[in-house]
Amino acid sequence: MAAAAQKPPAAAIASAHPLATQAGHEILAAGGNAFDAAVTVSAVLAVVEPYSSGMGGGGFWLLHRAKDGFETMLDGRERAPLAAHRDLFLNNQGEVIPNLSINGALAAGIPGQPAALIHLAEKYGRLPLKQTFAAAIRLAHEGFLVDDHYRRMAQWRLDALRQSPSAASLFLVDGDIPQVGHNLRQPELAKTLELMVEQGRDGFYTGRVAQQLVAGVRANGGIWTLDDLAQYQPVERAPVRGEYRGMTITSAAPPSSGGVVLLAMLNMLSHFDLDGYPEATRKHLLIEVMRRAYRDRAEYLGDPDFVDMPIEQLIHPLYAAGLARDIRLDRATPSKAPRTKPLMSEGRDTTHFSILDREGNRVAATLSINYPFGSGFVPPGTGVLLNDEMDDFSARPGVSNVYGLIGGEANAIAPGKRMLSSMTPTFVESAEGVAVLGTPGGSRIITMLLHGILALQAGGGPDAWVAVPRFHHQYLPDEVQFESGALTADEITALTRLGHQLKPLKRSYGNMQGVYWNKNKGSVSAASDPRGVGQALVR
Ligand code: GLY
Repeated sequence: MAAAAQKPPAAAIASAHPLATQAGHEILAAGGNAFDAAVTVSAVLAVVEPYSSGMGGGGFWLLHRAKDGFETMLDGRERAPLAAHRDLFLNNQGEVIPNLSINGALAAGIPGQPAALIHLAEKYGRLPLKQTFAAAIRLAHEGFLVDDHYRRMAQWRLDALRQSPSAASLFLVDGDIPQVGHNLRQPELAKTLELMVEQGRDGFYTGRVAQQLVAGVRANGGIWTLDDLAQYQPVERAPVRGEYRGMTITSAAPPSSGGVVLLAMLNMLSHFDLDGYPEATRKHLLIEVMRRAYRDRAEYLGDPDFVDMPIEQLIHPLYAAGLARDIRLDRATPSKAPRTKPLMSEGRDTTHFSILDREGNRVAATLSINYPFGSGFVPPGTGVLLNDEMDDFSARPGVSNVYGLIGGEANAIAPGKRMLSSMTPTFVESAEGVAVLGTPGGSRIITMLLHGILALQAGGGPDAWVAVPRFHHQYLPDEVQFESGALTADEITALTRLGHQLKPLKRSYGNMQGVYWNKNKGSVSAASDPRGVGQALVR
């Protein structure tokens, strides 16, 4: 087949839940494009994966339109309420009040997902919301079956869910975690989705639902106002772009740190002949580039509408050359700062899906309510579980968040500001083909993308990218977290000798969803992370 096949021979969707993947394909079969399918998959995930994303949260949708090659990142990230301020989560002594940015109404940013989906549908889709929301509304009315994964996520957040009677009545049964097979219905969420179908953004951001959201938040210690909702707007931003060994990487721009950190790591790696080193040295190099890129994340990155950032410098090959020069092959570079708290993250929070349609349109979308089940708070009458994305701000410079990440002034809280994210929906293009990929997993998202892209570069398909064993370093805490199987006993010995602190994880993490169109072979393949319960379907 000619190297430049113009259209994929099949469409593909990989998502974290089979019901979302199937609903997305039904929309494609009904004449929708990848953008319509993205609306449907997002809406269905909001219903059947309530612990990961939803209308009470936000996300980034990276889009490629085939007819003209146009690419954009739709930013539906949450914003701080207008009454928020820099010291919102500090006590009178200037110390961070534990859990205030994680549990309950004050932890919630103003949701962006509803506005982003309406924007996506109206500007890029072909089908009306009545059609693209239909599966989500049906599943909210009729219910979906609780599985083991739901139970584990609910166990993780049981205390927070019990604190909100409306959350407990939705997601628990008599205050306890529902059994596997329990049919979980969300009639109030169905009504909220129906209002969005009838009224567009007004169905969520003004009128009855907006009033209930604000009243519920304010009655429970939050500071939202009707203006917060009325003023929320999604933003289209130019993605960040860079090259690595013949591949063009297109990824999330700020307010996500994802693309910048990913490109910084790849730029540094391009100064080493990775395949020419023993495996332990190769892993040492990966750890050292992770360390350096996350150090810059903490120092420089935030919301581009509020802070000036040296993005061009951070993703410039010459800047990376300077950073790579001080990497030593014979020793780990200590991270120079006090120890921070260990990560509290489960590593499956948030969700990702990847879509390619038969016209060649693509969507990589990573969506979140932050921690599993977000803030654990549902404003009565709405069925909308709110995020706890306020924890992604830097509550105080140098104090770490739930992911162990530190930040500085660039990511300080301010009214209307978007909090820095790690979500990294990504496209990779080479002479051979096009990859669409991403994953949930908090601060570890970006290093998972690095592992996936290196697996792609080594010639692997989606099965390999999603399955590769993972390890992670994020500057602080100064430790290498690794999944079982990611490091051999010899590598553990070698890396320890170099001065790395190694931390084996009890659980695997991440839930990568990948799609690949091999233009040379004229084939499409897709894979869903074996660590999750998702589904990849090529049709
Ligand atoms: N809430 C996770 C992230 O945006 O990185």
